[in-house]
Amino acid sequence: MRSVNYPGLDRHAKYHSLLLAELRTFVYRVHQGEGATAVGTMSFLWSWLNLHIDSMDRELTDWLGTHEPDSGARHLPS
Ligand SMILES: [Fe+2]
Repeated sequence: MRSVNYPGLDRHAKYHSLLLAELRTFVYRVHQGEGATAVGTMSFLWSWLNLHIDSMDRELTDWLGTHEPDSGARHLPS
């Protein structure tokens, strides 16, 4: 996203950061014996991933399909 100057990078990265914070909370609760379970964590993660892929990752894919990379963008060798 950064290498192609994706305009939604900050928002997208924020959602990833929020996910990591949520997962850290789950891990903390498991270690504290506060009722969080692996099944609950996996269920949350599964829902998050499906929603994220269907929305934000799809927006990124659509954007990439309609925009040329900036001249300064790095490219993989062909
Ligand atoms: Fe993503």
